[in-house]
Amino acid sequence: MNKIVTLAGDGIGPEIMAAGLSVLKAASKNTTFTYEIDPRDFGGIAIDHFGNPLPEETLNAAKQADAILLAAIGHPKYNNAPVRPEQGLLALRKALGLYANVRPLKIHKKLQNLSPIRNVENVDFVVIRELTGGIYFGKHELNADNAIDINEYSADEIRRIIRFAFETARGRDKRVTSVDKQNVLATSKLWHKIADEIAQEYPDVQLEHQLVDSCAMLLITHPQKFDVIVTENLFGDILTDEASSLAGTLGVMPSSSHGDQGVSLYEPIHGSAPDIEGKGIANPVSMVLSIAMMLRESFHEIALAERIENAVEQAFSKDIFTQDLGGKATTAEMTAAIIDHL
Ligand code: NAD
Ligand code: IPM
Ligand code: MN
Repeated sequence: MNKIVTLAGDGIGPEIMAAGLSVLKAASKNTTFTYEIDPRDFGGIAIDHFGNPLPEETLNAAKQADAILLAAIGHPKYNNAPVRPEQGLLALRKALGLYANVRPLKIHKKLQNLSPIRNVENVDFVVIRELTGGIYFGKHELNADNAIDINEYSADEIRRIIRFAFETARGRDKRVTSVDKQNVLATSKLWHKIADEIAQEYPDVQLEHQLVDSCAMLLITHPQKFDVIVTENLFGDILTDEASSLAGTLGVMPSSSHGDQGVSLYEPIHGSAPDIEGKGIANPVSMVLSIAMMLRESFHEIALAERIENAVEQAFSKDIFTQDLGGKATTAEMTAAIIDHL
């Protein structure tokens, strides 16, 4: 029996987690894939219950799980609180050593017409975001008259994420774009040099470098040029929310996070969307596709993953969309349409 720890979290988190789990249940019925769900408090809800966004029992359960599903955390009510839900997310990634965050973008035909960007056909790339280093995890100091955030990367941290990107490229179109700000930042100079060194180990994969500012531009003007993008933590955070605009919404963007401790985590790239919380209109597709990534990457259930992904495509083909894509479907209706097409 496969053990899946679920962290529904805050805002729309519980709504899309329930939707995703109902798709998983329907898809795996009468298959050999069996699992048990272990729901745990995490984020704001865990602050309310335990005074800690990552309670010890949640962390222990996550460490012992075969895979972790996270919906979303965060809420404006903690904006001035001494401890924020987001600290729990960073602590969880760090504690599980989840250094490689995989954020794919492939745009379904029907979504191409809904995209606010023209010419998005054949967009198919993946961003490999470094997830446990950089400015997120450096010293932070907030004083009345100044503030400090330190961006630090060790050569080993850079090497392992660049290698991860080259390995990913070998299973794709064999092109890596390393994104940095080496015209200014020391961390980027080291990143750039190490990318060149690692490229020597992968003569079958083509490496190019791109500065992060012009990369942000190219993602909109020439998104087809990318296959695998690899970049540091903060740049990857920003570029992937930007990339979601190609698909028309954050609500279809899944991700996986891998480390060297054996357990991986799957989550939408978006947040808890407090502006639509409780309205029953959140797009569940980001969660559903995160579950498909879990089936493929943690459980090697390729057929099951494809079945779910195809069902999402079929629902789109029938013009069933939630409001973020200009449609009328509620979360429940979108979920039912996906289940109907399994
Ligand atoms: P957000 O990603 O929550 O929302 C941005 C916009 O996208 C909103 O208009 C929202 O309604 C929309 N959106 C996001 N997901 C959607 C979905 N599934 N369906 C339909 N619309 C969707 O970003 P934000 O508003 O800047 O942040 C809100 C909170 O979420 C903050 O506390 C932030 O720290 C947190 N956050 C958490 C995660 C995470 O849990 N991994 C990720 C990003 C942000
Ligand atoms: C994400 C989120 C998080 C991040 C926040 C909530 C800490 O934006 O998963 O993309 O910046 O990594
Ligand atoms: Mn983000």
